[in-house]
Amino acid sequence: MVKLGRLNIKKPYIVAPMSMYSDIGLRKLCCEYGAGYSFTEQIYTSEFVCKDEKLKRKLDLFEPVGLQLLSNSASEIKKTLEMVENKEFFDGLKNVKSVDLNLGCPTSAVMKNNLGSGLLNQPKLVRELFCAMKNNTDLPVSAKIRLAINAKHKKSKPYLRIANIAKEEGLDFITVHGRSAAQLYEGEVDMNAIKEIRDNVDIPLVANGNIVDEVSGEKMLSISDAIMVGQMAVQAPFIFKQLDYYFKHGTKMKVDTLAEVKFCIEKYFEYVDTYNIGFQHVKIHMQAFLKNLGLRKAIRDLTHSTSMEDVRGIVEGCLG
Ligand SMILES: Cc1cc2nc3c(=O)[nH]c(=O)nc-3n(C[C@H](O)[C@H](O)[C@H](O)COP(=O)(O)O)c2cc1C
Repeated sequence: MVKLGRLNIKKPYIVAPMSMYSDIGLRKLCCEYGAGYSFTEQIYTSEFVCKDEKLKRKLDLFEPVGLQLLSNSASEIKKTLEMVENKEFFDGLKNVKSVDLNLGCPTSAVMKNNLGSGLLNQPKLVRELFCAMKNNTDLPVSAKIRLAINAKHKKSKPYLRIANIAKEEGLDFITVHGRSAAQLYEGEVDMNAIKEIRDNVDIPLVANGNIVDEVSGEKMLSISDAIMVGQMAVQAPFIFKQLDYYFKHGTKMKVDTLAEVKFCIEKYFEYVDTYNIGFQHVKIHMQAFLKNLGLRKAIRDLTHSTSMEDVRGIVEGCLG
């Protein structure tokens, strides 16, 4: 067990929240491979507040999970957390084990509304939002932050300021994606800045960014309490099995990539039937799994597929 404040997770590896990708199928598959915890994709508190029916489809909360919110409004956070506490609106809310606030989304439409990474230079508002998180639920609460908006902003170390506010307002832990918003999802991760938080702010820390194998996972875990994997978890959910093996035995496990990809596909289709997962999700996950095998034509064909039968046909056709 790993303790992140009041949240206990089975293993120190977490599946990142990712819009469109971190659906129940991927989350369950990663947990089957050894991930200790997972988050939903970001969900606007405004969607909760207006009880948007479409939200019910997005809330695939069939297993214990962290709910990630996108918000710039303390009153909306309060209302949302009341709904979560009361299991109101949607039965699956009983499976929410912690609530996270997104301070990392880098898209300009989001940022210009003081949402996501747009909050990183709004310390007063951030304090209000963290306070609303902490005071309106008994569940563990956390925030996922980036280091800064861009390289210039990073010089003033906003990550230390935000981490300190999280500590002062009693958040259970923070996750730090070691890039600026301007870097989006690629490029160098600043491990020194993550370590600076570790050394200066007394709050449980989950480190995230460019964990692609055992060595990058080990480096990140040496400066944090747990690590979070994003894009590599989408492509190769078996990275969690590799990490687990490496930390137990100190050597890398041999991976039969074809066998693992076949397992991922088979399991994901099983979850499609169990949880009625939508077509777009199935398509993008199959494309991601096939990347491991370099099957470019099949990946292209999937782009043009229009039905679940098409997808099954293409996948079965290329794997035999
Ligand atoms: C397609 C995509 C969607 C994402 N959606 C979210 C999201 O909803 N909430 C969030 O906090 N981060 C989101 N992220 C960021 C990831 O959680 C993670 O921080 C980032 O990908 C860095 O980790 P990685 O280098 O292991 O991919 C998203 C990333 C990608 C690639």
